[in-house]
Amino acid sequence: MFKLNVSDLNIGTRLGKDLFSADGSLLLKETTIINKDHLDRFKKRGIDEVYIAEEIVNAPQEKKEAAHIPNEKAFEKIYLESTHSVKEFLTKAKLGQPLEAAEVLEIVDTLFTQLFDGFNIFKNISILKEKDDYLFKHSINVAILCMLSGRWMNMNEHNVKQLGLAGVLHDIGKVFIDDKILNKDDALTNEEYQEMKKHAFLGYNYVNKLDWVNNPIAEAVLLHHERMDGRGYPNGVKDYGNNIFAPVLAVCDVYDAVTSERVYSNKRSPFAAADILWEESFGRLDPVVTSIFFNKIGDLLLGSTVKLSNGEIGKVVFTDAFRPTRPLIKVGNLFYNLGKEREIHIMEIIS
Ligand SMILES: [Fe+2]
Ligand SMILES: [Fe+2]
Repeated sequence: MFKLNVSDLNIGTRLGKDLFSADGSLLLKETTIINKDHLDRFKKRGIDEVYIAEEIVNAPQEKKEAAHIPNEKAFEKIYLESTHSVKEFLTKAKLGQPLEAAEVLEIVDTLFTQLFDGFNIFKNISILKEKDDYLFKHSINVAILCMLSGRWMNMNEHNVKQLGLAGVLHDIGKVFIDDKILNKDDALTNEEYQEMKKHAFLGYNYVNKLDWVNNPIAEAVLLHHERMDGRGYPNGVKDYGNNIFAPVLAVCDVYDAVTSERVYSNKRSPFAAADILWEESFGRLDPVVTSIFFNKIGDLLLGSTVKLSNGEIGKVVFTDAFRPTRPLIKVGNLFYNLGKEREIHIMEIIS
């Protein structure tokens, strides 16, 4: 491992050491393969030097080629394989068969080791999302977002993986809900909604019987729709007790739901989704988890080029820690402070 000036860094090189920002948060994990996005971000953040894995520099030809696989492709491959595995094990659960630890934990391990290049994942999740396979992709997305959040909250590796497991399993109860309700395109009737709400309890019941799933994970599955104003379900409790996974799961679940095409007709930019999450969070979701989530979205979008609802294109030049979804945008020589100009929204992130 040795230090390299960022200006000498090539796309496809592998990081030799975790890379942290000035405030100590993890930016990129050791072994991340550098892509163009990373190089742009290093420039934006004023990062001049990084540690490079030595073995890649002296690696035989085939290893070098492996390191040049574009990150997005690698992500897509893992994402689709994981989605396929979730599809398989949810089908098994639907048939009433118990899940083996290995088939589920393998997904979590793969996501854990491969996907800690956080910010690209945020973008890629929204690109890969489609209407079909909603439940499978949603389960994977929530697992990824939960593990990222666990990292941001400085949880240890065990708890981060437990969060991933909670994410993968959280909606397993939906396989016991009538397909007609589950796949309905229109809004659910009150009766159907009452039926749908049973998934939290049904999921808990199923997961609780698996001896390899710890109690707090089964409990998080039960609690993921509970809200701190007592208006959640299934029990309308006002807190998550001592469960450290449930508040994270609840935030990541809402975030993925509001960015998904299934719930809303158009894909939303992370800013718009975060706006909804912000509204949802007041008195309803855990404030510590949501503020960490918001700050990361702010970090991600600082320096991005965005399209505004008035048709103009500008650059995000400042994000406010208290309202990162409403940043300051520079359009030519003009500045729009979206914190004040409430009628203007970010429609799309261009780059
Ligand atoms: Fe759910
Ligand atoms: Fe969910």
